[in-house]
Amino acid sequence: MKLAPSILSADFSRLGEEVAAIQRGGAHYIHVDVMDGHFVPNISYGPTVMKSLMGKTTVPFDVHLMIENPSFFFQDFATPNTEFITIHEEACSHLHRNIQEIHDLGIKAGVSLNPATSLSTLDYILEEVDLVLIMSVNPGFGGQKFIPSALEKIRALRNIREENNLNFQIQVDGGVTLENAGIVMEAGADILVAGSAIFSGGQAEQRTRQFYKQF
Ligand code: DX5
Ligand code: ZN
Repeated sequence: MKLAPSILSADFSRLGEEVAAIQRGGAHYIHVDVMDGHFVPNISYGPTVMKSLMGKTTVPFDVHLMIENPSFFFQDFATPNTEFITIHEEACSHLHRNIQEIHDLGIKAGVSLNPATSLSTLDYILEEVDLVLIMSVNPGFGGQKFIPSALEKIRALRNIREENNLNFQIQVDGGVTLENAGIVMEAGADILVAGSAIFSGGQAEQRTRQFYKQF
C-alpha cells in the first residue's frame, strides 16, 4: 500500500509542521488538492503554497488538479519534487494533448474520473497514463463519505489493466479511512489518498503510521 495524505485537511497555519509529520510517519506522497471555484465549488490553494513546502519535506508531490483549463498551470506545478500531475477527464476537451504536455515537462501524468463518469471515457488514453484516480466522493471537499459504487469501478479498472497488460497505478481518493482502507485495496487500489483520516485530530504522524501498520 502507498499512502498519499491530502493536505487539504491539514492545519494551514502549520503546514510545514504537518508535512514534516507525515514524512516521519512514512508517507509515500503529499497529495496536493488544487480547486478553482469553477470545476468544483470550492477554492483551495495554488502552486505558491505547494512550492513553499519544498524546503520542508522531501516527500514527492502528487498534484490533483480540480480546475478548468489545467494546462495553463502545468509548468507552475512541475517542480523537481513533483511525481504526478493528475487532471480530470471532465475538465479536458483535449485530454490526449494535455497528458502529452505533462509528460513533456518530465512529470508522470494521471487522469481522474468523478463518481458518475464511466471508465469507458478512458478507452483511448489508458496506454498513455501513469495513474488513474478514481474519485470515491464528488470532488470539492474533504471529510465526505465514501461512495460504495467506487469499489466496483476499481475492480473493473484493475481487470482492464490486467487484460491489456498495462502499468498505470490505481489511486483512490475520497472518504478513505482506517476502517475501509482494507476493502479499497482488496478491490485494486495501489495508492490511497486520505485527508481527514490523517489530519483531523492533530496527530498526522501517528495516523500515518497506523495506516502502514495495518496494511
Ligand atoms: C476531494 C479531494 C480529496 C479530499 C480527501 O475533492 O480530492 O483529496 O481532500 O479528503 P478525505 O480523505 O477527507 O475524503
Ligand atoms: Zn484529491
